[in-house]
Amino acid sequence: MNRNTLQEIATIEKETFGKGVTLDTLGSILKTFKEGLLVLYKNKTTVGYIGWEKHLFQKFPPYNHNWTDFHDPEGKLAYISIITVQEQFRNRGYGSQLLSLIEEKAKNHQCTKLYCPVNKKHPYLNKGVLRFWEKNGFTITGETLWELAPGHSIDSYIFSKKIKY
Ligand SMILES: CC(C)(COP(=O)(O)OP(=O)(O)OC[C@H]1O[C@@H](n2cnc3c(N)ncnc32)[C@H](O)[C@@H]1OP(=O)(O)O)[C@@H](O)C(=O)NCCC(=O)NCCS
Repeated sequence: MNRNTLQEIATIEKETFGKGVTLDTLGSILKTFKEGLLVLYKNKTTVGYIGWEKHLFQKFPPYNHNWTDFHDPEGKLAYISIITVQEQFRNRGYGSQLLSLIEEKAKNHQCTKLYCPVNKKHPYLNKGVLRFWEKNGFTITGETLWELAPGHSIDSYIFSKKIKY
């Protein structure tokens, strides 16, 4: 994955949420866990991407964080930290495809669970994001404070899915 792709992901993330994932964060994913970032392309256009890491115990790193500090190669819990599909490609199954790909990868790593925090005030929550997670077998299993930016934490739902073997 080249720097142009990382720059494109940072731009899409900023356009989608009004805040950006830094190139340092994205770079740290690839440096720490090569399988931690997956990008779907269509005719060389980036359709969407998903980022994940492994933890030993359930935790919720800040939105921008250094993967090296949190990813545990021995971890069996698969933490999804980013998932976005570009607007023009939404509702065509690509988001579900990204989740399936990560579930398969997590299985190869003998993970037992996938989990992800979702902002309770997520701009898309009532427009379908809840439905998206539920449709893919995730349920709300708790709540957490999730740090979006230094000094700015948000109430979030924890969506989880047990991995079946
Ligand atoms: C959430 C997201 C990744 C889903 O990707 P996707 O490719 O649209 O998902 P799929 O096509 O696999 O599934 C679509 C389902 O989710 C629902 N959905 C998800 N997001 C939606 C949205 N923004 N608007 C309308 N419906 C949405 C649809 O109702 C649909 O359900 P249905 O098949 O029963 O009609 C994508 O909408 C997105 O990137 N949204 C903005 C960023 C975001 O919210 N990221 C997730 C952070 S938790």
